[in-house]
Amino acid sequence: MQSIGFILVLALAGVTLGIPLNDKCSLIGLWKNDLGSEMNITAVNNVGKIFGTYLTRVSSTDKPIGVSPLRGSQQMGDQEQPTFGFTVAWSFSDSTTVFVGQCFVDDKGKETLQTMWLLRKKVDSSQDNWKATLVGTNLFTRV
Ligand code: BTN
Repeated sequence: MQSIGFILVLALAGVTLGIPLNDKCSLIGLWKNDLGSEMNITAVNNVGKIFGTYLTRVSSTDKPIGVSPLRGSQQMGDQEQPTFGFTVAWSFSDSTTVFVGQCFVDDKGKETLQTMWLLRKKVDSSQDNWKATLVGTNLFTRV
């Protein structure tokens, strides 16, 4: 009984001081990046497989943008600030993008995803290979 009281006092102190009670960073949910793209991670299963959808706000093609599926993996060992990677096979273009990143929690409990990506465009021949890959970074915050 005494220990429950102690935990409650600690929890209250944590809330008062703004210390997050749950410092795990979860990928699940709706995220928006610095380009305005929206990503919905619907599930991370017990072996770290990631499932979701991606709606990009920008495109290197003229085709109408649509929602695309994403699939990936999260490291499940230490889930406090896990690393992850996922692939988006764009539903409306011939390109594929891979993202790698890490989920961070700040001292106020705010989660962000720092990512880096490679976008592979389809080119007509191997002579054009040199211009086929774009690289960049995206910062995601929860919507
Ligand atoms: C394409 O241009 O063929 C498909 C769309 C690519 C969108 C890219 S992926 C990396 C960057 N981050 C985004 O949210 N959108 C762009």
